[in-house]
Amino acid sequence: MKRRNFIKVGAAGLASPILLAGNKNMKVNKNNPIVISTWSHGMPANEVSMKILKKNGSALDAVEAGVQVTEADAENQSVGLGGRPDREGNVTLDACIMDSDGNAGAVAFLQNIKHPISVARKVMEKTDHVMLAGKGALKFALENGFKKENLLTEKSKKGWLEWKKNNNIKDSWGPNDDHDPITSLAQDNEGNLSGACTTSGLAYKLHGRVGDSPIIGAGMYVDNEVGVAGATGVGELVIKTCGSFLIVELMRHGYSAWKPARKQLIVLLNKKAVKPNYKLDILH
Ligand code: GLY
Repeated sequence: MKRRNFIKVGAAGLASPILLAGNKNMKVNKNNPIVISTWSHGMPANEVSMKILKKNGSALDAVEAGVQVTEADAENQSVGLGGRPDREGNVTLDACIMDSDGNAGAVAFLQNIKHPISVARKVMEKTDHVMLAGKGALKFALENGFKKENLLTEKSKKGWLEWKKNNNIKDSWGPNDDHDPITSLAQDNEGNLSGACTTSGLAYKLHGRVGDSPIIGAGMYVDNEVGVAGATGVGELVIKTCGSFLIVELMRHGYSAWKPARKQLIVLLNKKAVKPNYKLDILH
C-alpha cells in the first residue's frame, strides 16, 4: 500500500441558510443543492447532477444522471464502458445507489451493460432485493430493457494484453493508479440526500472479484438525518472497515466530517455542515 494524496474532487453549491424542518432537533439544509464526487472524472458528472438539482430535481435523479456520464465515457478506464478488464479480459462492473428513505439497490460482477447504476436503481425500485450479481444481474437488466454491449474498448484491451505479457499471472492485480469508482453524493432543494457509486473495479483482478462499490455501507451509505459517505480506494480495505457506514455513524456521534475522512478513504457530505468537505487527504 502506498500513500497517495488525493485532493478534492469536485463540488458545487454555495452555502445558504440552514433551515429547521420536520424533526425539531434536526437542522436541514434546504435550498442548498450540493453535489460532490470522486476524482477529476467527477467534474462533468457534477455538472449534469447540478443542473438537475437546480431544476428542483431529486438528489437520487441527480446522482444517477451524474455517474452515467462517467459510465458512458470510453476514455475513463475505471468505470463502465472502457473499464479495464479482469485478468481474463472481461469487463465486470459493480455499482450501488441509495436514497433518502433508506432504499438501496446494487449490482455486482455485472457484464456487458453500460449503465450498471441504472440497473442498481431498478433493483431498488422493482424488487424486494438489494443486490443482484453476475448472470442473474445481467438477466434482470435485459428483462428491464437494458442493451447488451461490448464494453472492452481497444485501449483497454491493448493495456490488458500488455499487462499479460509483462506480468506474472500470479500477481494479485494490475496498476491501481486509476482504478477508482465515481462516487457521487448529493443534497437536493428539499435537503434530502442520496448517493451512487459505480466502477469496473481493480484492473486485472481475479475473475469474480467484487469490490466495495456495490456493498451498501462499504462503497457508500446514506442516512438522511446524518449525512452520506462514499468510498474511493482499495475496495478490500473499505469492505473490511465498513468504511462508509462507519463514517456516517461517526458523524452521527458528533465527529467532524473532516477528521474521519482523513483516515477512511472517503468522500462525504455532512448534513449538519453548511458546506460539504471538499478536500481529502487519503492514506492508502
Ligand atoms: N474501490 C473500488 C474497488 O476497489 O473496486
